[in-house]
Amino acid sequence: ARCVGKNQERTLAIIKPDAVRYLGDVISAVYENGFTIARMRMVQMSQNEVMYFYSEHKDKDFFNRLVEFMTSGPVVAIELVGSDAIAKWRNIIGPTDSQKAKEQSSHSLRARFGTDGTKNALHGSSSSTDASREISFFFDSKYGNNTACYNDSTCC
Ligand code: TYD
Repeated sequence: ARCVGKNQERTLAIIKPDAVRYLGDVISAVYENGFTIARMRMVQMSQNEVMYFYSEHKDKDFFNRLVEFMTSGPVVAIELVGSDAIAKWRNIIGPTDSQKAKEQSSHSLRARFGTDGTKNALHGSSSSTDASREISFFFDSKYGNNTACYNDSTCC
């Protein structure tokens, strides 16, 4: 297992279906902002998978729209490692609503590549609990498994 250091945090980024065409720009932003990519994969999510992934929103009025959008094409899931990665990545992607993102600054990834409050180009985990769950969802369950280790007592 490769070890990337003790002060590092992990987060899950997702390039959503509307932004997969901007993969190169997103990867450039990842490295320009000092992150390391631990694991990355492109998958077509099923409706059930999206419903599980976003189950905290199951009663919201936008839930069906969200499921439809997230299954409209492949997504790219990226496990990011870096200092303060969770908060830093959310800052880089910008506000949930891409229109608000554009009003705030033209530089955030949602301002650059998103369209509205559903088609918003990128995901970022919102807490370390969510990050662990979301990273396992994409990398340690049915999508495959490996033994890479990034920040815990078993390797660092
Ligand atoms: P949320 O967890 O509130 O935002 P974020 O992705 O910034 O953590 O919402 C999850 C996703 O649900 C969001 O990225 C897009 C979708 N969504 C809508 O489609 N409409 C909405 O009004 C909201 C709040 C979210």
